[in-house]
Amino acid sequence: MMKNIAVLVSGGGTNLQALIDAQNRGEIIGGKITLVVSSNPDAYALKRAEKNNIATKVCEKKNYKDRAEYTAAIRDILLEAKADLVVYAGFMTILDEQIVKAFPNKMMNVHPALIPSFCGEGYWGLHVHEKVIESGVKLTGATVHFVTEECDGGPIILQKASEVKFDDTPEILQKRVMEECEWKILPRAVSLFCQDKIEVYGNRTKIIE
Ligand code: GAR
Repeated sequence: MMKNIAVLVSGGGTNLQALIDAQNRGEIIGGKITLVVSSNPDAYALKRAEKNNIATKVCEKKNYKDRAEYTAAIRDILLEAKADLVVYAGFMTILDEQIVKAFPNKMMNVHPALIPSFCGEGYWGLHVHEKVIESGVKLTGATVHFVTEECDGGPIILQKASEVKFDDTPEILQKRVMEECEWKILPRAVSLFCQDKIEVYGNRTKIIE
């Protein structure tokens, strides 16, 4: 059975593009992207989906009373779409535990650093790379992990490292981490999931090669 993949986005959608490109190359084995949900009506990610004939929905936080109601709305969209896998690809709104209960170990997030460093509240987008540069570390990278109630805290699926160079700006570093890490490990993790090749043992995962 092909798994239905729903992708949550908020911005430029280059990670969504990496998933679409992988799908078009036949590299997402056992799954298909069937829905893109954006928290932002102006997200360029929506255009990328439309160009590839993928259904889209916009669900904005400002139209809901609080985080609980917003989470319930997103959950209902995903349940209605019969999503087997939910991918957070640059989705910038924190949802509450209702979503985790509806999709236990069926949601994955790409984070632009090597978790458990440079993650948690306040660490998103370019801020992550600013803090990485300030800290002086020589290596950073990206992590794909299952989403749990703890922000950036779920079982890690794949990680990949990139160098931090002395002259890096946050923008330059973000681009390197995307190209070398995120755009590679996110499609790979999605394909592994769709082939039932990820086993979860507590906070650890085993990849069945
Ligand atoms: C990516 O670098 C992603 O890892 C990061 O935002 C960027 C979105 O880019 N996500 C987070 O910081 C989530 N905490 P994209 O819209 O081009 O994929």
